[in-house]
Amino acid sequence: MKILLLGAAGQVGFELHRGLQVLSEVIPATRDGRLPGGGSARIADLAAPATLETLLDDVRPDVIVNAAAYTAVDRAESEPELAQAINAEAPGLLARWCAAHGSKLLHYSTDYVFDGQGKHSWREDDATAPLGTYGRSKRDGEVAIEASGCDHLILRTAWVYAARGHNFLRTMLRLAGERDHLRVVADQIGSPTPARWIAAVSVALLARWQAGAPWPSGLVHLTASGQTSWHGFAEAIFTTALATGLLERAPTLEAIATSEYPTPAKRPAYSCLDTSALRERFGISLPDWREGVTQTLAELAR
Ligand SMILES: NC(=O)c1ccc[n+]([C@@H]2O[C@H](COP(=O)([O-])OP(=O)(O)OC[C@H]3O[C@@H](n4cnc5c(N)ncnc54)[C@H](OP(=O)(O)O)[C@@H]3O)[C@@H](O)[C@H]2O)c1
Repeated sequence: MKILLLGAAGQVGFELHRGLQVLSEVIPATRDGRLPGGGSARIADLAAPATLETLLDDVRPDVIVNAAAYTAVDRAESEPELAQAINAEAPGLLARWCAAHGSKLLHYSTDYVFDGQGKHSWREDDATAPLGTYGRSKRDGEVAIEASGCDHLILRTAWVYAARGHNFLRTMLRLAGERDHLRVVADQIGSPTPARWIAAVSVALLARWQAGAPWPSGLVHLTASGQTSWHGFAEAIFTTALATGLLERAPTLEAIATSEYPTPAKRPAYSCLDTSALRERFGISLPDWREGVTQTLAELAR
């Protein structure tokens, strides 16, 4: 079996690259042909569909794992065409190639496909209503994949972070060294989810399929258990980082409303995903989000 891993330098892609190699031959691809920490990869620019097709015809993967995405939520508001090309058009092309060649597609999507109104955890079949360009482009990607008729699995996840890459946890640790006081939004609620956990579930599902289980098809929500606000997430990061000696001092935290922190993109207020399908279909549920903070900070401390 041959797996083509797109976005191998991203948070989830980096973790997948490590995990997938246990299963089969993995061909990593990145936008610039380089891997984090050295090493080379195939070049795959999702903004340039023609080059993608050439790569697919050359590699002929049995499975495409697409961890590449345009993830700059605010910047997407001023680059809607680029976000659409990478998050919607490219996944559509990948899916049509898979349909034509009998290959499988594993893809990732986001809680930002929902508008976040109300206080119930979102189920896979709830109506989507993205508030911004990023969420809209990701939803269009889901639709394009579903329309292709290929064997696919879309894992919708949320609030992704890791010991590397651009994410909230690393931003908080950086700001701890620069500021005495931080104002953090407390009225957006979600489930912070480590990239490593997303990769581990992906690898487990592919391993089962490789061992003879049916392809785990469809759209499935995948996040850590429990929920918090960005403010609660920041609090847990600082408390744990102080306790483990990763930080010597932490800023004081002030809870603020979204309206006090205007951003180009509107974000969902309540974006927790209902993960019962993951549990019922595959017997998998992820630990509480706080455990992810502890694990990720321990990884950073090493
Ligand atoms: N991050 C989150 O909070 C979050 C939340 C919910 C869902 N998700 C979804 O989870 C998946 C993985 O996200 P992540 O957190 O791992 O994102 P990430 O760390 O931003 O990684 C995305 C990767 O895609 C690459 N990429 C961007 N444009 C590309 C292009 N034109 N061609 C090829 N590669 C390109 C980036 O490369 P460069 O480094 O060169 O830009 C980066 O390596 C995505 O589908 C994302 O939508 C993420």
